[in-house]
Amino acid sequence: MTRSILLTFAHPAYHKSKANRALLEAVQTLDHVTVNDLYEAYPDFMIDVPREQELLVNHEVLVFQHPFYWYSTPAHLKEWFDLVLTHGFAYGQDGMALSGKIWQSAITVGGGAEAYVSSGVNSFSVPELLRPLQATAGLCRCVWQEPFVVYGCHTITEPELTAASESYRARLIALRDGTVAAPITSPSHA
Ligand SMILES: Cc1cc2nc3c(=O)[nH]c(=O)nc-3n(C[C@H](O)[C@H](O)[C@H](O)COP(=O)(O)O)c2cc1C
Repeated sequence: MTRSILLTFAHPAYHKSKANRALLEAVQTLDHVTVNDLYEAYPDFMIDVPREQELLVNHEVLVFQHPFYWYSTPAHLKEWFDLVLTHGFAYGQDGMALSGKIWQSAITVGGGAEAYVSSGVNSFSVPELLRPLQATAGLCRCVWQEPFVVYGCHTITEPELTAASESYRARLIALRDGTVAAPITSPSHA
């Protein structure tokens, strides 16, 4: 089984990116992966909603790759959610377009893993902070995967970044080829 992957990418300063650049370069040449760079495609934020919805319909795995910004997504990806995931398309009684698709968030994080525990400076884990995305995936009847998270990107070494990139590539290959371990399913919204 081969699944097609749509990698929706959001980074407002890609020219300065180190972590996302390494991750993206590790996967963008994989077969059956379509990269959709929101800041490149829509520098003025004027999102072509029909184009985006067609891309979603034509892929089975939805990867959202971005840096963690204020415990959330860059603004363009939030705008994309607001405009593209419409009632009757992505959710609601007749909004079945994304039903059964796999949702994989891939996040680079400035802080270290030790900062993302209840006793740490950020109080919550990254998966906890990503609950709004998990709930969004659930409402759209997508199958939520454990987020792929790269911590400590401010101080990450080249070998660590290489290892993270190889791990990311392996994750996407497993999703594409259907060899990924049992997915974490979202709550049903039938
Ligand atoms: C506007 C902004 C908000 C950020 N918010 C967070 C945050 O909430 N938590 C965190 O750990 N890092 C935060 N960071 C750090 C970025 O996540 C980090 O620089 C990025 O993931 C590194 O990836 P890159 O090399 O591809 O830019 C923030 C950075 C910026 C510019």
